[in-house]
Amino acid sequence: MRTRVRDVIAVTAKISMDDGIRGGIGVSESLRTAQLLDADGTLDALELTQGSSVVRQMFLFRGDVPVDDFAAVMPQPRKTGVLLLGKKILGEFPYHDLYMLESARQFVPLMKNTKLILLGGITDFDHMSTGMAEGFDFVAMGRALLREPNLVEAIRSDRSKQTYCTHCNRCMYTVYGRTHCVLDPTSAFGAVDSARVASGEVIAGVDELAASVGGSACRD
Ligand SMILES: Cc1cc2nc3c(=O)[nH]c(=O)nc-3n(C[C@H](O)[C@H](O)[C@H](O)COP(=O)(O)O)c2cc1C
Ligand code: SF4
Repeated sequence: MRTRVRDVIAVTAKISMDDGIRGGIGVSESLRTAQLLDADGTLDALELTQGSSVVRQMFLFRGDVPVDDFAAVMPQPRKTGVLLLGKKILGEFPYHDLYMLESARQFVPLMKNTKLILLGGITDFDHMSTGMAEGFDFVAMGRALLREPNLVEAIRSDRSKQTYCTHCNRCMYTVYGRTHCVLDPTSAFGAVDSARVASGEVIAGVDELAASVGGSACRD
């Protein structure tokens, strides 16, 4: 990839600092991986994340557990199982701002060539400033931008601007249809294209989700 894009486009990678599951990658192993990637010198930047969107998703996202939305994409009898055990399957981890910082700051002194991107619960100017003060080169935002795609511009105009994202996490399962913030979907991106929904085009991916939890998908 580096050969193809030369120095015209940044090449970045997102790596897990901690999978949050037994037998998965932990911080010490990830620190070593980051050092190897840094020594290789190919990447422009590393984005540090944790958990995954496949197993115990709330370790990645933190905050409210969207059990009803999870159940909605499951067929019976798994739907009932998810309603009963959804919190156990997804995990329960309280949200707090900058929730990946504690692990991520351990990577800062190790990087000699590669820039670092801080992620996780960054929603306002103070969070960005904290990331810079901690030695990160960039910060990344997920849900706050999904909630308000113009957020960076809004913060540029008003540094006290606070996010409207509630970390309800109900957007998690919209990725299997049309990714959007459920609280204000139309003002963010315009109305969902009903023709594409009717054709099944934008629901593609539900089967993949169902397979990941050992089921097959339904769409009601
Ligand atoms: C609706 C949605 C879709 C996402 N899709 C991806 C994805 O395709 N690949 C990925 O690496 N992370 C994905 N993420 C995770 C985000 O990149 C980010 O790691 C996570 O939301 C934590 O950052 P935040 O606290 O700023 O939201 C997604 C998050 C959301 C909410
Ligand atoms: S649905 Fe909207 S408010 Fe809820 S977490 Fe996602 S982006 Fe934030």
